[in-house]
Amino acid sequence: MIKKFLNLGLQPLANQYQKKPVKLSVEKGQLYNLNIFFNTKSKLVSISKRIPSEKMFNSKYPYRSSMSHTMRTSFKNLSKKIKKKFKPNLLLEIGSNDGALIKNFKKENVIGVEPCKNLARITKKNGYLTYDKYWNFDLATKIKKKFNSVDIIYSANTLTHISDLNTVFKSIKYLLSENGIIIIEDPSLLECLKKNSYDQFYNEHIYLFSAIAVKNLLNNFGFEIFDIENLSTHGGSLRYYIKRTSYKKQKISYRVNNQIKKEIKFGLHKFETYKKFSINTLRSKKNLLQILNKIKKDKKKILGYGATAKAVTVLNYCNIDKDLISNFTDTTPEKIDNYMPGKNIKILRYNKDILKNYDYVFLGAWNFKKEIMRKEKKYIKNGLKFITHIPYPKLIN
Ligand code: TMP
Repeated sequence: MIKKFLNLGLQPLANQYQKKPVKLSVEKGQLYNLNIFFNTKSKLVSISKRIPSEKMFNSKYPYRSSMSHTMRTSFKNLSKKIKKKFKPNLLLEIGSNDGALIKNFKKENVIGVEPCKNLARITKKNGYLTYDKYWNFDLATKIKKKFNSVDIIYSANTLTHISDLNTVFKSIKYLLSENGIIIIEDPSLLECLKKNSYDQFYNEHIYLFSAIAVKNLLNNFGFEIFDIENLSTHGGSLRYYIKRTSYKKQKISYRVNNQIKKEIKFGLHKFETYKKFSINTLRSKKNLLQILNKIKKDKKKILGYGATAKAVTVLNYCNIDKDLISNFTDTTPEKIDNYMPGKNIKILRYNKDILKNYDYVFLGAWNFKKEIMRKEKKYIKNGLKFITHIPYPKLIN
């Protein structure tokens, strides 16, 4: 049974930054109601509304994996590990974005799959074979004809964006070599609930995976998890190492059961846990608004740091407009000089002096808190205060 536990109100498409301030409407399909559900059988958490992929992942996609030092380092370290441990002849990445992972491999050893043509163009230009297509059975068939099979299929922060997981895994199964390995990483549902980061939910994040749900899902395709790593990226992610159930030589790590036990202890298998999360989310909204309104009353200015898709959920759920947060800043060229969807707050180009003009910073990219606070320590010393809503709304200095 599929049960609803959270309603995040009317939301715009998260990564569709607006060229100029516009009032979005439900009638024109620019706003949708963001409801979150729990499947009591498969234990999978998902959003209700499915926006067609073509509307979200097109030639104007603004998210770039290599925009942060944290992500570049994470991909670099993983590449080293993959080469050392698995020695793949051929690795395929689903959702290769701007090449943050594949650029760590030799060109003859990797294939990128990236439907956002503006991003695929970057890796193609750098000489990496990139299919600017959606991952599906047709594409797997095409690649199989050319390469026969691949040893590793990797995907970070992508599979949770694809509605039809059945096709995803069927296509992977078709192309993966007999002893091949799948590595996927995505935000962890356990960390999301622990941190009360309701902003992990937006139209692109169709699913939020737990190890419990991934295990159940893989079971349908003859795959199993053989190792799990906890990562700090994206506010707490899990990296799953997966193999065919028939590949017995690869042993299963104790870490798999440990993670599942942790998730059961927290209650991820029970609907009541999600109801509690929904109450915490409402409380978080009230408390964040209290902090922002107090700052407004004191006539102080707030800058949003990191014009993230997550911040779009927060702004629209909490009804925060430019009266509360004057501007956002970001380093991503595709976001600069655009407006936050739904709330029309202008995104300014980041420069090292920008914080001079503000009294407070709201951490839109709270998942990069360490990196950002390290970068801005001069301002922090001079009294600039940071606001975060994770794990609960508060000031940090
Ligand atoms: P994400 O949380 O969805 O990965 O997005 C992070 C956003 O924050 C991305 O647009 C880049 C931006 N950003 C900055 O502008 N400055 C920074 O120092 C960092 C770490 C991120």
